[in-house]
Amino acid sequence: MKPVKKAVLPVAGFGTRVLPATKTVPKEMLTVVDRPALQYVVDEAIEAGIEHFVFVTARGKNAIEDYFDSAYELEDSLRRKGKTVIYDELKAKQPREGTMSFVRQQEAKGLGHAVWCARDIIGDEPFAVLLPDVLIQTDVRSCLAQMMDAYNKVGGNIIAVDPVPDERVSSYGVIKPRAGANPKTQSLIAMDGMVEKPALKDAPSNLKITGRYILQPELMGLLKDQEAGAGGEIQLTDAMARLMTSQDFHALVYEGQDYDCGSKLGYFEAVMAFAQTHSEISEGARDLIKASAADLS
Ligand code: G1P
Repeated sequence: MKPVKKAVLPVAGFGTRVLPATKTVPKEMLTVVDRPALQYVVDEAIEAGIEHFVFVTARGKNAIEDYFDSAYELEDSLRRKGKTVIYDELKAKQPREGTMSFVRQQEAKGLGHAVWCARDIIGDEPFAVLLPDVLIQTDVRSCLAQMMDAYNKVGGNIIAVDPVPDERVSSYGVIKPRAGANPKTQSLIAMDGMVEKPALKDAPSNLKITGRYILQPELMGLLKDQEAGAGGEIQLTDAMARLMTSQDFHALVYEGQDYDCGSKLGYFEAVMAFAQTHSEISEGARDLIKASAADLS
């Protein structure tokens, strides 16, 4: 079984749900406490053993590339002022040279098309996909690290899932567990299908695809000629459903909580959640949240 060392992060989207902020700031760069949302996703992947990141970007997203570069003037100024702790923290987050690639998605044709844009760098290795809109907080190993554990047991393709209430099913990709699989008692479930944004009456389960994937490279060949699906876009879910006819797919009901930072309320929730676990401000953040809850009641 080939190890998973590369990850694709599609960051080309406009972020229309959080305008006007995203008119000039890529949505992935919106600050959650003291770092861009994207940093949490990169950290999640590093914890899982990812060594190379492929960002699928677009026009107006240069801030992402700059963020992962060294910032000479800033670093020099910190050094000269003796702010060594801040300097060291900054340098510790800087990726090693050559471990990040940036490719452009020239037209917004959908998530499947965005992933396909990374094909030359992925080559014939299995790879992870992390949707940076989604932040996942856990008390245990990171979501992708949990998926790697599952991959090391069963191989093939692994999709992170979690249950959603019926009224939200049509906003997501939804999986079809194999007959006899019980998501209430099993965390790793064999799958028989998946469908993108089904009407509730057609949904094969209420297990939504969360935005973390471990995929085999054969998927890229299918994405090449994948036709547009839900919303007129080339959907990753449709290509995965085709790959499922020849390869195993398992869904992992991971431990953790996801936050949709592409929406206003999800972003607000993420800020509250990560503030409460932040090494410097957790106590103060909890006090503030408690006080404001008491005010509201
Ligand atoms: C994408 C995927 C969908 C998944 C969702 C998770 O949809 O296509 O299968 O459930 O991310 O956030 P999007 O939110 O880009 O419409």
